[in-house]
Amino acid sequence: MAILKIARMGHPVLLGRAEEVTDPTAPEIRRLIRDMAETMLDAGGIGLAAPQVYQPLRLFLWREGQDLRVLMNPEITPLGEDRATAFEGCLSIPGLRGEVERPARVAWRGLDQNGLPVAGEAEGLTARVLQHENDHLDGIFYLMRMNDLTRLGFIEELARLSEEDA
Ligand code: NI
Repeated sequence: MAILKIARMGHPVLLGRAEEVTDPTAPEIRRLIRDMAETMLDAGGIGLAAPQVYQPLRLFLWREGQDLRVLMNPEITPLGEDRATAFEGCLSIPGLRGEVERPARVAWRGLDQNGLPVAGEAEGLTARVLQHENDHLDGIFYLMRMNDLTRLGFIEELARLSEEDA
């Protein structure tokens, strides 16, 4: 296994539309998943998309409790009209957090780490992570989803703000 370099905002690999995974059980895909898992855990992230490690493929990982989940060739669809607002960060935009409004619930489907079809519904943090990671496959950063850029800041400064609020 290996810890991979994480691409940062500005690199072209993060701005294009990633390609479908055509052979989900290929050895190089299995290796990529293992390396991405190690990279995400090392970086302390809760999600990581393949373009963030310079692989323009429709594949991402996320953490759900203690579980590490994988989705290839995902389809994410909002469920209902409810929306939720929360701060997000991104391993490709280190040090920053920004507030993003997104659909509160989503249906998801795709292929798991064994190339088998999986589907489900999600809400809360998982719904947010799925949408954030799926956006990376289409060249979209959370910053592009923000309605109010005054709700963007460096983590340390935002922490100070909330301390002053308390
Ligand atoms: Ni991200």
